[in-house]
Order: sequence, then C-alpha cells, then structure tokens
Amino acid sequence: MNTVQVMLGDRSYPIRIRPGSLADLGETLVREFGAAHVVSITTPRVGEAHFETLARGLSSADLAHQRLDVPEGDRAKTLSHASRLYDSLIDLEADRDTVIVALGGGAVGDLAGFVASTYLRGVALVQVPTTLLAQVDSSVGGKTAVNHSRGKNLIGTFFQPRLVWIDPAVLSTLPASELRCGMAEIIKAGAIWDGEFFAWLEKNAKGVTALDPELLSEAIVRAVRIKAEVVGLDEREAGLRALLNFGHTLGHAIENVLGYREIHHGEAVAIGMMFAARLSERRELAPAGTAERLEGLLDCVGLPTELPDALGVTETREAYLRAMTVDKKVRGRQLGFVVLSEIGRAKVIKLTPEEVFEGADQ
Ligand SMILES: NC(=O)c1ccc[n+]([C@@H]2O[C@H](COP(=O)([O-])OP(=O)(O)OC[C@H]3O[C@@H](n4cnc5c(N)ncnc54)[C@H](O)[C@@H]3O)[C@@H](O)[C@H]2O)c1
Ligand SMILES: [Zn+2]
Repeated sequence: MNTVQVMLGDRSYPIRIRPGSLADLGETLVREFGAAHVVSITTPRVGEAHFETLARGLSSADLAHQRLDVPEGDRAKTLSHASRLYDSLIDLEADRDTVIVALGGGAVGDLAGFVASTYLRGVALVQVPTTLLAQVDSSVGGKTAVNHSRGKNLIGTFFQPRLVWIDPAVLSTLPASELRCGMAEIIKAGAIWDGEFFAWLEKNAKGVTALDPELLSEAIVRAVRIKAEVVGLDEREAGLRALLNFGHTLGHAIENVLGYREIHHGEAVAIGMMFAARLSERRELAPAGTAERLEGLLDCVGLPTELPDALGVTETREAYLRAMTVDKKVRGRQLGFVVLSEIGRAKVIKLTPEEVFEGADQ
C-alpha cells in the first residue's frame, strides 16, 4: 500500500493507493476510524460495476451501511440533488458518527463532499474516486461544490476528507475518453511541478494508458504526491494552488464556447496547456522546445493540442475572450495566467485577455 499524506495540521489525512484495495476499505474504517455506520453515495453505472466489492468489505467488517444513488456526471451536482441526499440521510438516521463514502468520479465526490460538509455541520467524508481524474485531482484537496444555473462550481465549501482510498483497478471499466482526461491532469502536474516525473511520463505514458498495473499505480502515486504537496502549502488557493489551473483559463473558455457536451474537460485543458506553453515561449519565459515536449506527450496519449476552430478564427477568438472575462477567476481586467518557466516549473503572470492572444497564430 502506498500512502501519501496531506499535511494540514489537525485536518491532515492519508491518501492510500493500492490495486485491488476496494474490498478492504471497510476493515480500515472500523480499525482506524472506529466507524459503525456508513452511507455510500454513488451512481447507477459506478454502483453496478464496483459497489458489490465495496459492500462486501463493509459487511464483513460488520458495518451497518446503505447506498444512495445520484445521476451520472455533472447532472447530479445541483442543490436539489444535495437536498434529496439530506432527506435520505435524515431518513436513514445518519448522525455525527456516520461516515459518508463518495464512490464515483469527481462529480459524485464534489456533491457528496458538499453534503458531508453541511449535513449536521459536517460529518466524516471518505473519498473513493473511480475515475483517473478524480484519483489524481478532484478527490484530493477538499474543494466541494454544486453548480448554479449561472456557472459551474459556484456553490461550495472547503472541506477536507478524512481519507482518500484509491484502487487503480476500478479504472478497468472506465471509458478510454475519461482515462485521457485524467492523463491531461497527470501531465499537468508534471509540467508545473516535477520535471523528472514529466520525463518519466515521456517514457511510460503509453503503458499507463494501457493500464499496466505497475505503471498506472506509479503515475497515480506521483501525481497525487504533487497535488497533496501543493494543497498542503496553499489549501485555499491564496497563491501556489493557482498553478494547478495551468491550461484551465483557456480550457474553461473552450468548454464554455463549444459546450460541455462537445469537448471533454481534459481535452480542453490539453489545448489550454499547449496554448499557455507556446505563449510562455513567445514571451521568452520558457526555453525553446518546452512546448514541443508538451505536444509530444499530449499527442502520445491521444489528447488534442490545437485550438478548435469551430466558428472561424476571428469569431472564435472573440468568443474565447468573452468567456475568459466572465470566468470567475478573473479579478479586475487582468487575469492570472499560468505559464511555464521550464518543464517542471510554473508561475502566474498577469495578462489582459487581449494579451493572451497577442502574437498567437490562431
Ligand atoms: N474538487 C476539485 O478539486 C475538482 C477538481 C477537478 C474537477 N472537479 C469536478 O469533477 C467533475 C469531473 O469529474 P470526472 O472527470 O471524474 O467526471 P464524472 O464524475 O462526471 O465521471 C465521468 C463519467 O464516468 C463514469 N464513471 C466513473 N467511474 C467509473 C468507472 N470506474 N467505470 C465506469 N464509469 C465510471 C461516471 O458515472 C460518469 O458518467 C466535474 O464536476 C468537476 O467540476 C473537481
Ligand atoms: Zn481540470
């Protein structure tokens, strides 16, 4: 079992990573947390594939447990689904000693986290992420949220889980497109924080996407270590944590313009990272060849690297500009834009949205 610790004083918690560990969570919950009652929140699809394994472990550890289902994906991240979960928790007589287990992708984790942080002013939360993105990114760091009709993730809390339990074997049922999205965040972690990991990915990314058990586990452990370190240094995104937005400023704009159904988050982030890497070179902030290495790695796992030209070049750029200025991360006219200093090192610079496209080919 690999353990990575998130260091946040009395809210510190472990992330445990081991293939085939899903059935063992129950025993750990009893032994380390003295848990007696568990409510799992999942979706029909994830539940069908993996709940039995989890439930077997909970039962053999003599834990009373129930399962609540929410819809797949972001459709579940609403206040009304949160409210239904509160109703069910009250019906199940969940109390302060109840542990909420989020079994699913980032959407389930965000919603279950939000509910755990507000029900009875907070009950224990255990994240059991089942997408690669959730394993390396969203389950670690304590951001919870539901969406608002005016924007994604507008309603939420910072609430750290007590434990993150990662079984890489559950990824065997994940569609390839979802796996690629997780790869985008893994590549991001290497690009902004760990040049050696980036070089390791250049050699091993193909094996990771082919779900080679050892390579997959190593990639997850190394990416999680980076996220845990960044969160430990800056829990509330006052500074450093903003580096994790590498590729996301333009990425969110692309998702906005094309529509969330048209492009996957990881694809939009890949395009955003490429754009930011080229901008870094153009402004002589990063050495020549930086963008080329990123492009090679993204290409190798099948992620896109060029801005989609859905509406015609000029109109699209206008649309991206508009989308970036309404993005919630923009303060005043300038926006914090993450650039690379080299592979493995990043910083935030202030740019107006217009400056973002200055000198760009597209
Ligand atoms: N809290 C954070 O720090 C943070 C960070 C990044 C993203 N997010 C949020 O995470 C969400 C995206 O997460 P995601 O990419 O995991 O997508 P997701 O949760 O929407 O899951 C994607 C799809 O995969 C299915 N699925 C999940 N695990 C599966 C498995 N093992 N086998 C088969 N199918 C499976 C889901 O049912 C869903 O249909 C967004 O809502 C985003 O806002 C949060
Ligand atoms: Zn992301």
